[in-house]
Order: sequence, then structure tokens, then C-alpha cells
Amino acid sequence: MITDKEVSELLSEDSDKKMKKMNMLGQMTFGIVHDIGNSLQILRASSYMIRKGAPDITVTKNVDAIDAAVENMALMVERVLSFSNNSNDLVQEIDILTALDETIILSEYLVPPHITIDFQKPDKKILLMANLLELSQAVLNLIKNSVDAIEPMKREGLILISIKECFPWVEVKVKDNGCGIAPKHLEKVFDPLFTTREGGTGIGLANVWATVESHGGVVAVTSELGQGSEFTIMLPRK
Ligand SMILES: Nc1ncnc2c1ncn2[C@@H]1O[C@H](COP(=O)(O)OP(=O)(O)O)[C@@H](O)[C@H]1O
Ligand SMILES: [Mg+2]
Repeated sequence: MITDKEVSELLSEDSDKKMKKMNMLGQMTFGIVHDIGNSLQILRASSYMIRKGAPDITVTKNVDAIDAAVENMALMVERVLSFSNNSNDLVQEIDILTALDETIILSEYLVPPHITIDFQKPDKKILLMANLLELSQAVLNLIKNSVDAIEPMKREGLILISIKECFPWVEVKVKDNGCGIAPKHLEKVFDPLFTTREGGTGIGLANVWATVESHGGVVAVTSELGQGSEFTIMLPRK
């Protein structure tokens, strides 16, 4: 027969589980709201461009960006509502070069004109089992951080994005010539809520870390204060 002690242990286990689930939900929601913020910025910038009366070809590009941002937000909302934090849900074979091309096109709306993005990629396709939305948001977060790090330096900015195969990994790097990270902060930057920016949330890199981890990969950073930072994501070719 089950004893009182066992019942209370089971109950507390149950409430532990509930707490864990609530915590997970809280973290996921916060992360998604953060990424929706990026998409809203893309929407705002693209509708501004259209309103300004851009040539037809630019209008098409801006409407494409609006569609992509809306689609991304819809997927994010769906994830919260279905409370499925399981990134396996949307794992599929993706061509990561095309995925990054599209992410970089979207990121242009978050990047001011004095910052150039350079994308170095191999000629050959790289196919990977991954969650397209999450990976794209992770790279978008790294680009956004590079912009935030370059802005205070008041100089021409360069964000170098590169991708290559290092069997059995795919390596994605995002490097900038921004303000860099103080050595004492280097090991904290992926902690949830760690921020040194006024108005920062400390959610962006925690999101990146969670995405990379759920793909079985690793993410690392090297940086020199005043010179710039380099984030490296290694993803397994499952
Ligand atoms: N590219 C970068 N260059 C310099 N510092 C960075 C960069 N990316 C992240 N950081 C540091 O890591 C912190 C956490 O980043 P993040 O999680 O995106 O939160 P937030 O951008 O809201 O501050 C930033 O506040 C900043 O100190
Ligand atoms: Mg950030």
C-alpha cells in the first residue's frame, strides 16, 4: 500500500513538475516575445519603405519581408499556444545557405546603412536537419547584437557572416568590429537576463544558446574589447 509519505512525495514531485513546466513556459514565452520584437522592427521598417514610395522592385522586396516576418511571428505564437517547446516538431532537412540568405535579407531591416553585412559561403549546398525558424532567429539575434555593439563605436561597421563544413559539423560564424566584450563578461553573456546594454533584456543570447543546444550543437564567443567579437555556432550534420 502507498504510504502518506509516498503520497506527499508524489504530490510534491507533481508540483515540482508543474513548476518546471511553468518555468519552461515562462522562458519560452519571454524568448519568443523577444524575437517577435525583432520581427516587429522588420515590419515597421518595411512598411516605412513602402510608404516612402519606393520603386516597384523595392516594394516587392519589402512586401516579401513583411510576409516573412508575419509568417515567422505566426509560427512563434503557435509554438507558445501549443506549448510545444520541443524543437523536434519543426525539424526538417533544410538548405542552410538559402536559409541564411533569407535571414540576411530580413536582417537588412535591422541594420543601419553605415553597417555592411558580408556573407561568405561555399558554392555547394549544405543540407542539415534543423528547425529553420529557430536557426534563422538565432542568427538574426547575433546580427542584432553586432549592430548594438557597433552603434556606440560611431564607425563604419562590418558584420562578417561565414559558413563552412568541418565534417561532421557545420560552422556558422558571425563576426563584428563592434565594442567587444570585457573578459570578465565573456563567460556570462549566454546567461538568461545578463545584459550590459541600457534597455537590454539579456534574452537574445540565452535564446541562441537554447536553440544551438537543442540542435545538439555548441556556441562559443571570442572577443577583444574595443575591437570586436566573434560568435561561432557548430551544428552537427545529423
Ligand atoms: N556582438 C556583441 N558585441 C559585444 N557585446 C555583445 C555582443 N553580443 C552580446 N554582447 C554582450 O552580451 C550581452 C547579452 O546579450 P543578449 O543576450 O543579446 O542581451 P541584450 O542584447 O538584450 O543585452 C549584451 O548586453 C552585451 O554585453
Ligand atoms: Mg541582444
